[in-house]
Amino acid sequence: SIFWRSFSHSSSSGNPFGIAFDIDGVLLRGDSTIGGSPQALSKLYLPQGSLKVPYVFLTNGGGVRESKRAIELSKLFGVEVSSSQVLHGHSPFRQLAHRFESDFVVAVGKGEPAAVLSEYGFKNVISIDDYALCFDNIDPLAPHKKWTLNISEQSKGFPSAVLKEYVCSQRVQAVFVVSDSVDWSRDVQNWRPSWRRNWNSTSSILWAHDDLKYQGAFPTERFGMGALRISLQSVFNSIHPHPLQYSAVGKPNPLAFKNAENTLQQLHNQLTANQDLGGISPFETLYMIGDNPSVDIKGAQQAGRPWFSILTRTGVFRGKENDLECPADMVVDTVEDAVDYILDKEN
Ligand code: G3P
Ligand code: MG
Repeated sequence: SIFWRSFSHSSSSGNPFGIAFDIDGVLLRGDSTIGGSPQALSKLYLPQGSLKVPYVFLTNGGGVRESKRAIELSKLFGVEVSSSQVLHGHSPFRQLAHRFESDFVVAVGKGEPAAVLSEYGFKNVISIDDYALCFDNIDPLAPHKKWTLNISEQSKGFPSAVLKEYVCSQRVQAVFVVSDSVDWSRDVQNWRPSWRRNWNSTSSILWAHDDLKYQGAFPTERFGMGALRISLQSVFNSIHPHPLQYSAVGKPNPLAFKNAENTLQQLHNQLTANQDLGGISPFETLYMIGDNPSVDIKGAQQAGRPWFSILTRTGVFRGKENDLECPADMVVDTVEDAVDYILDKEN
């Protein structure tokens, strides 16, 4: 069933439009496709497989390089995805690389967080896994973590004495939380006010996103990076005179939507062989299809025109009508319903 917000959306069109897809809870749950997502995406390509409609994946997930994720997504959905179409929660960190040029920074999270930042241009970055290995007894619970013991078994002889000495001599200038931490207890131990003189600065800990909940493979929502942020902040504020500030660059931050709009504009120009309008958006409508009202829908609403928000019922949101706190412009059951509506309206 389709639910509309109380205003009329003009029928159109022929005007340029683009689509941003959330991933978890809209296209996938874990590694399984949902809501007719492969069929929905295939409708955005011409029969011979080339792209017809400009679209991006605007997800707060990540932990891998965008180029690698594009390959994974191509396999999952059976369509050709380019790395420029993948916008992770951490993708805006690329714009910060010059600010931290040669600062010693730590990258937190599952996957390959240090490789992600290195690719963005950070020159002096270490993952929190490797950082922790440089200090004896940094995690008092390590002997009780069987999986940690397995990791150290595999990495015998690492870190080298030279790396260990270097890391111990460095003052960490900033921490980038790239993706979900796999070891909250160790990672909370490692955030110490002594790392940098002014840890109140919002530039010291940067979060890819602040999602409290997300929809994975498990039937009910799981806690995400926002839950770690709350834990860390609570511990930090108990031992430090000034509360810890934080900033997150992914959705619902308008920066994430601006980046999506810029990328869609480039795709649109490629598809139509159009000239760049010097930063002026050619779009009449950009559709954000998401499952999380306080992240995807709030972000699209805050970003304003030309964004139009569509909420699906396949993830965090399961309501009958609309979300009360962050109402979407439209609510549908699945992503395929959303794409059918868009193509019907735009063609
Ligand atoms: O950790 C990822 C999750 O918080 C959200 O992913 O695709 O729903 O933005 P997505
Ligand atoms: Mg989602």
